[in-house]
Amino acid sequence: MIFESHAHYEDQQFDEDRDALLAGFKDHGIGYVVNVASSMETTEKSLALAKKYPWMYASVGVHPSDTEELNEENMQKLKSACGHEKCVAVGEIGLDYYWDKEPEVRQRQRYWFERQIDLAREMKLPMIIHSRDAAKDTLDIIQKKHGEEIGGVIHCFSNSLEFAKIYVDMGFYIGIGGVVTFKNSKVLKEVAAWTPLERILLETDCPYLAPVPNRGKRNSSLNLPYVAETIAQLKGISSDEVIRATCENAKRMYGIK
Ligand code: NI
Repeated sequence: MIFESHAHYEDQQFDEDRDALLAGFKDHGIGYVVNVASSMETTEKSLALAKKYPWMYASVGVHPSDTEELNEENMQKLKSACGHEKCVAVGEIGLDYYWDKEPEVRQRQRYWFERQIDLAREMKLPMIIHSRDAAKDTLDIIQKKHGEEIGGVIHCFSNSLEFAKIYVDMGFYIGIGGVVTFKNSKVLKEVAAWTPLERILLETDCPYLAPVPNRGKRNSSLNLPYVAETIAQLKGISSDEVIRATCENAKRMYGIK
């Protein structure tokens, strides 16, 4: 069974056919999905979705670009959401310097990243890390906060091989999605080829980042076989082997039996 480790099915792009799409997953070999939150609102929505489907789980957390909404009251709400029976991680949390360039906004991102790392530690949940154009600051904070004691995944990995090696050494998982199938994704292909199979998670980040041959269209977990096939080719193993191992990895990381 395929384990989809990172999806956003609460997104309005799925409003028209969400239930029909999700209902067909089992027949297409998609055994598990973690719906990842990125704000207070999507934290609620992800938990509600996960409650509806026995094979769906949720994370709780606020994306760096949405940290403006964080305050003590909302941190309390996140903490109680972490106690929900279907919550399996804190995320997606981290740093995104692509959109936010002002020093004070970046400072705010770093502050709430650290606070949400503390939350993951307190609630004994793994972290789903988002890092865009902020490789060094992300790693600095994770090292400073001893993230290796908490664990988690560097989702939609987009850093160099050098960073992948450091994260794997720290015990983190590397999330690989549709980008690995793009012709020009030389560095990510290198990362996928190097990363030990037992450290890779399959993800879509849907509705975004659909793999070739569906690049540019709305993405869904149904496209994961293309990602698995590309990783298999890079490693010279079978696609089934990739699917089996990444499913084990995700269950281990998220603590799902
Ligand atoms: Ni995401």
